[in-house]
Amino acid sequence: MNYHDTLAKLGIGVAHPGGFQTTRQWIQHVNWPLIKEVVEIGCGTGRTACHLASVYDLRVTGFDSRPLMIEKAKRRAKNTSIKKQIEFFVADAHALPVPNRSVDLVYMESVSVFMDVELLFSEIYRMLRPGGKIIDVEMTRLFHIPDVLLTEIQEFYEAKQVPTIGEWKRQLQKAGFQNVRSLMMAGVAPGEESAFGNADDWDQNQMITILPHEMNDIQRVLQKNADLLEKTGPYLAYTVLTAESSL
Ligand SMILES: C[S@@+](CC[C@H](N)C(=O)[O-])C[C@H]1O[C@@H](n2cnc3c(N)ncnc32)[C@H](O)[C@@H]1O
Repeated sequence: MNYHDTLAKLGIGVAHPGGFQTTRQWIQHVNWPLIKEVVEIGCGTGRTACHLASVYDLRVTGFDSRPLMIEKAKRRAKNTSIKKQIEFFVADAHALPVPNRSVDLVYMESVSVFMDVELLFSEIYRMLRPGGKIIDVEMTRLFHIPDVLLTEIQEFYEAKQVPTIGEWKRQLQKAGFQNVRSLMMAGVAPGEESAFGNADDWDQNQMITILPHEMNDIQRVLQKNADLLEKTGPYLAYTVLTAESSL
């Protein structure tokens, strides 16, 4: 069982650095009355999507490549009082069934590191209406990571890259985005409160579906995750990137 399958089995609602606290922070940077169509890529079990659809008057569509994540996201939506409309689909982030220039906001929370980022950002640019917004919460590299640790990160998390903030920004600019900014940055090392979010933000709709014979595997993955965070924490941080498509 790999890291992402473990997150799906555990039904984790905030599998991104900084947890739901970071979600609440970036939400404050969006001018919501202007936003009608929202897409989340790599939505996991749909916690952020359901939160947005319950607070704001907008339509949200969430995509994830893992059927179990989407199944749990749909169940979460049923338990949530949605204002307008929310839908979840199994789809690959590199080619999404979304019309050109139809979306006001696309966001991701810990997803781009696992993708072909050039393809992903150009796909997002294609979907956004002129002046549309992208928000991306991602792991970022602070210092040179020793090759042996980088390989461990790439193998365990199936991360395609761990860019610096400058490299993330350049990728967005290359795809055509303007006003590229990093809204915040915080550490991921264990012991930093920001790495785990806030105890007030417990997910009341977490759906755990672990079979008894999977327990050992799950424990192994969680232990490896903790060990790897301990070893790589000093080299890593996370950031919230934002940018706009041109008018
Ligand atoms: C670290 S989790 C983050 C989930 C969610 N955004 C959150 O914060 O809880 C990464 C998510 O990306 C999804 N994913 C990985 N590769 C994908 C792909 N090629 N297309 C769509 N989703 C993908 C995984 O299934 C997983 O749900």
